[in-house]
Amino acid sequence: MTGETQHGLRGDYSRMRPDYTVDQDWEACTPAQHDLWRRLYARQAALIPDYACDEFRDALAALDFGGGIPRFDAINRKLRPATQWELVAVPGLVPDLVFFDHLAHRRFPVTVWLREPEEFDYIVEPDVFHDFFGHVPMLFNPVFASYMQAYGKGGIKAHALGAIEMLARLYWYTVEFGLIDTPKGLRTYGAGILSSGGEINYCIESPEPNRIGFDLLRIMRTLYKIDTFQETYFVIRDFEQLFEATAPDFTGYYQMLKGAEPYRASAVLATDRVYHRGIATARRA
Ligand code: PHE
Ligand code: CO
Repeated sequence: MTGETQHGLRGDYSRMRPDYTVDQDWEACTPAQHDLWRRLYARQAALIPDYACDEFRDALAALDFGGGIPRFDAINRKLRPATQWELVAVPGLVPDLVFFDHLAHRRFPVTVWLREPEEFDYIVEPDVFHDFFGHVPMLFNPVFASYMQAYGKGGIKAHALGAIEMLARLYWYTVEFGLIDTPKGLRTYGAGILSSGGEINYCIESPEPNRIGFDLLRIMRTLYKIDTFQETYFVIRDFEQLFEATAPDFTGYYQMLKGAEPYRASAVLATDRVYHRGIATARRA
């Protein structure tokens, strides 16, 4: 299930279709891989009640894919009627435009290969566990599912405008590492956190990182770290806020941001709404 290619990405890109999709080839998964999946799943599932948002928790419980690497087509039979999304199998990371085009058509690309046992705690490139466990439950939420499609359409536009970098920051700080303010306290809906054994409690409980109220332009101006826990998390009120704040045409935003120096991942600005122990306070009243 793994292999190396000239571009240095893991995964077998030799048998894909023009849209980068492949067959999942579930039958090729070994008992050892199913066992590794069960162990990854058991560890993460135990953390979900305390740290994930209810939308994620409920979808995960209804799906019940802890027994082994899931068959994508079995999940599609539940996902299509729920939000008209479907999963497509891919060899690994795909080019930006290919990714955006899938999202714009409500297709979520899921990597087919699984990490090695020695990568239990940390993996650089997304594997099937990250893609599936982290992303798929949220695709059952209608508002979040619409946001993901809008993001894909926005990506195609951002590509044409040379603004991918700014839009990628939005994906990072929402879809991958987003927090949400709930009556039970801060919770996460971000796939990068939800599939991580260590960051899931860190992002909620550690006194170290900044937690800042969602601010679209601020996020698109903020750098991020890919090899450590995040220094800053952005907190949404609800998924409607995410959908509505991103509905306007970004063309003017990109123009404004292009001349602006990006903020460091650790920056806290006077205008930020900072959360202290889960409570938001404006630094300047
Ligand atoms: N509204 C954005 C645009 O016009 C597209 C977008 C939607 C981007 C949702 C991200 C998320 O470019
Ligand atoms: Co991801």
